[in-house]
Amino acid sequence: MAGLFLLTFVFVKLLLQTQGQNIHHAKIYSVNREVAEGGSLQVTCSTFGYTTKSVYLYLCHNGKAIEIKKSNQADVAFIINSIEKDNSGNYSCVFSEERLLTTQVTGYGENHVFIQVTESLIPAEIRLLKADVSEGSDAEFNCSTSNPLNTTQPRKMILAFLLKNGRTIQVNTWDTTETMTTFTLRKVRLEDAGTYSCVVMLNILPHPDKRLCGKNEVNLQIKQHSASVSNSNSGEVRLAIMCFIILLVISLLLGIWLITQKRGFIGCLNKRCLNNEEQLRETEVVYEEAGEAEATGETQSICELSEWNEFSDSEV
Ligand SMILES: *[C@@H]1O[C@H](CO)[C@@H](O)[C@H](O)[C@H]1NC(C)=O
Ligand SMILES: *[C@@H]1O[C@H](CO)[C@@H](O)[C@H](O)[C@H]1NC(C)=O
Ligand SMILES: *[C@@H]1O[C@H](CO)[C@@H](O)[C@H](O)[C@H]1NC(C)=O
Repeated sequence: MAGLFLLTFVFVKLLLQTQGQNIHHAKIYSVNREVAEGGSLQVTCSTFGYTTKSVYLYLCHNGKAIEIKKSNQADVAFIINSIEKDNSGNYSCVFSEERLLTTQVTGYGENHVFIQVTESLIPAEIRLLKADVSEGSDAEFNCSTSNPLNTTQPRKMILAFLLKNGRTIQVNTWDTTETMTTFTLRKVRLEDAGTYSCVVMLNILPHPDKRLCGKNEVNLQIKQHSASVSNSNSGEVRLAIMCFIILLVISLLLGIWLITQKRGFIGCLNKRCLNNEEQLRETEVVYEEAGEAEATGETQSICELSEWNEFSDSEV
């Protein structure tokens, strides 16, 4: 009985060993220990020193194969794109001479690397350059991260989001050499008042909206400037009216001067205007005799004008 048990034990152990021998250890290399969510993880599996044959290489995550590649060379690169948070863990490499299903392959390789998948959405600090902005002018926000972003991985694009009440309203590209970006709201209106924050996204994520959350918030207030605007308007109107009056007076004076010049009445008119009405009537008679039509009307009106002329001259 005991002999039978021993026999089965040895048999099972042998079976496991032969099975185990199908899967061999390989080495893993990785430049990065941290990958931001949504980014790509690149590692290299190497059979260098273990075999020179063409074999099947498996990349294992926490001891379970997740990818297979046939290799003709000692080093094979594995790339996992759009990495997610639960892809964090221990990565290692194994190989086999025959092709096995990845679900059947388990085990750790010669070594392993722990890869941390970090958050891709970094809450950033927002600063409002002026707390209350006049309606119609621009509002400027500075968005910055306290630490420089880890740029060990080549990234195509880093984006910064300006959020108003938690919703994205502007997107900027983030220069990797800078730790800051500036958002400008042009010609703000009263409804632009509100709470603003900002977030930096290291990799494009499919639906980040619900998770966008800044480090701090700033409150933008819009100053209504309707009162002072109407004041300045009425000031402008007043100025325009004054200019108009001055122009009118000048042109009037010019007109009078031209007319009086043309007719050569200056001396005569001045005399008549200063003298009494009797004399005026006399001269009218003289004019009528001279045969000038409508002379009465003209002299009167010119007189009125020249009187006014004197008055305005004295005022100027
Ligand atoms: C990864 O390996 C380390 C030992 O190097 C171990 O402490 C840790 O628990 C492993 N993590 C996982 C998720 O298996
Ligand atoms: C805002 O950013 C600009 C450059 O983008 C910088 O010159 C300025 O000093 C920053 N202002 C504040 C208050 O951080
Ligand atoms: C950058 O990486 C270092 C170590 O790799 C880590 O301590 C730091 O928190 C990272 N910074 C950011 C902003 O992710």
